[in-house]
Amino acid sequence: MEWNKNGLLPLEWFKQMRVNSPVIESENNLVWNVFKYEDVKAAFTNYDIFSSQGSPSSEDPLEFSILRQDPPKHRQLRKLVSQAFTPRVIESLTPKIQAITTSLLDEAEKKGHMDAIADFSSPLPITVIAEMLGVSIEHREKFKEWSDALVGDHAENFYQCQREMSEYFSVIAEDRRRHPQEDLITKLVQARIDNDHLSDMEIIGFCILLLVAGNETTTNLISSAMLGIDSLPEVRAQLLADRTLIPGAIEETFRYFSPVQLMFRHVKEDTVLRGQELKKGQFIHIWMASANHDEDVFERPEEFNIHRNPNPHLGLGSGIHFCLGSQLARLESKIAIETLLERFPNYRRDRSTELTRMDSTMMFALKELPIILK
Ligand code: HEM
Repeated sequence: MEWNKNGLLPLEWFKQMRVNSPVIESENNLVWNVFKYEDVKAAFTNYDIFSSQGSPSSEDPLEFSILRQDPPKHRQLRKLVSQAFTPRVIESLTPKIQAITTSLLDEAEKKGHMDAIADFSSPLPITVIAEMLGVSIEHREKFKEWSDALVGDHAENFYQCQREMSEYFSVIAEDRRRHPQEDLITKLVQARIDNDHLSDMEIIGFCILLLVAGNETTTNLISSAMLGIDSLPEVRAQLLADRTLIPGAIEETFRYFSPVQLMFRHVKEDTVLRGQELKKGQFIHIWMASANHDEDVFERPEEFNIHRNPNPHLGLGSGIHFCLGSQLARLESKIAIETLLERFPNYRRDRSTELTRMDSTMMFALKELPIILK
């Protein structure tokens, strides 16, 4: 695409890695990087060898979250929290998501322009997840700051915001124990596994995970879809002519842009991958962003093709940790893109601002995406 001349999305690098070094150790010999679709999928699904298990530390409640568990603990936690994400529960959020979308675009319309990220694709998922958790939306700015810091590359910011979030959520959890409400935090404090309540760290870890997993990712999915549509006039024309093509365009955004570029595992048992010896205790970076452009699986992977069918992208992971919020992310982005195209069919990127990425290896996140609405 026209804006990617400087390799903002490092598709060329991924290609070289897939061809020359599909499984390669980092310079400090601690981390392996895996680039081919087949290997990425194997790392996601083979949890006996590639473990999600964290090293529990009071500094990082995320280590206690579902994301960092292997079976059987993972199965128990997943069963518990999936009740909040059934298709029926998600579908029932439609009017709420539509109302938030409409109100954000009403505000933007008054100005005639917006930063697609700050004014649209970020506040939408933050508001939805805050409502699900039952926390006040007044803290929206703070949530954004926290989730940016958690996926960024700066360790000090990461731990500082973990401390702030832990404090914030433990006060709320304590409040819900005394005054139960109709929200997810109340469900978490009341839940039992084998007759035990979840620990404070598990509750806080899950809240933090939802805030980050639910925000940063969906923000980048929506803004990337907007960028893709803006860059390809024929895609825009097709979507305007037939809105039922929007879900296909969103799946292709998951694949082409890969809002989450990589995930992590650690090696639980010595193993060999493409002739490379991975040792117990080492870490691996699973590059879904590269797998999603693997020419062995996707025909003409460099094309943003909204008709791709099937589209077995790994943008939402695979196996037992497959994204719990996938249907919510799909619904939010469908409503966002549908409403945007309906109201501002000719929206366009303000090309006087150069696109830059946030300081994050893990996410494909733009700092800003200025849009002229009419
Ligand atoms: C564009 C949107 C999204 C993307 C690209 C995305 C991506 C992912 C990926 C790749 C995983 C697998 C992690 C692994 O295997 O280690 C995952 C897991 C997860 N996601 Fe999402 N996600 C998105 C939206 C959401 C939303 C909206 C929520 C909730 C509100 C959510 C909640 C979760 C949770 C709780 C897990 C952990 C599941 C488990 O460990 O069993 N995600 N997500």
